[in-house]
Amino acid sequence: MNVIGISGTPRKKGNSEILLRHALKPFEHNGWNVKTFLLSELEIKPCNACNSCRESGTCIINDDMQGIYDAFRWCNAIIISSPVYYLNVSAQLLSILDRHYAVHIEKPLEGKVGGAIAVGNAPSGGQVTTLNAIYAWMLSCGIICVPGELAGVKAVADKPGDILNQENQLKQAEILGFNILKLTKTLQEKNESDDLINT
Ligand SMILES: Cc1cc2nc3c(=O)[nH]c(=O)nc-3n(C[C@H](O)[C@H](O)[C@H](O)COP(=O)(O)O)c2cc1C
Repeated sequence: MNVIGISGTPRKKGNSEILLRHALKPFEHNGWNVKTFLLSELEIKPCNACNSCRESGTCIINDDMQGIYDAFRWCNAIIISSPVYYLNVSAQLLSILDRHYAVHIEKPLEGKVGGAIAVGNAPSGGQVTTLNAIYAWMLSCGIICVPGELAGVKAVADKPGDILNQENQLKQAEILGFNILKLTKTLQEKNESDDLINT
């Protein structure tokens, strides 16, 4: 089974990246293949609405997004984390979300399971609107959205690494990952038993 994690912060070892790594722990412990995409390292240009994908089903912009298209097809589950920027996801992450447009007819994420993490520096700083932006995208892609203990993970932290002092939030991220893992396995088992009945 395969899971991908996308970290939307442009800062190395940002708080949202750290929470993403904690959310991926249950998958590592259960022997899944884990691929992580860090927007502190990758360069992904915004969609320029050239619409050539409508003819070809592929994006003509040749950058790190090509690997993410492959990962969309490869994964069984997806976790996205973002810093809150003006009550929304980071521009870096938004480029990925928009560039899905090139493959939306193919529906590479349909029926897969996903969850979200948002980190702002203020309590009620827009974590909920940021989570909702990610969920709206996930639902548009046909992803089944899974909560942590309470909705997605909403965290308050400022300087890179500050979140490491918040044991409870690290735990919340792991719970989110575990819930995604559990539902993905349940759906997989159900599909397998349906296959048996149909044959
Ligand atoms: C351009 C910009 C806009 C921001 N807007 C908000 C905001 O609306 N609400 C908030 O709580 N924090 C805001 N912040 C603070 C970041 O969300 C916060 O520092 C967070 O820890 C960043 O996540 P990271 O550590 O993963 O980079 C903003 C920061 C930047 C650079």
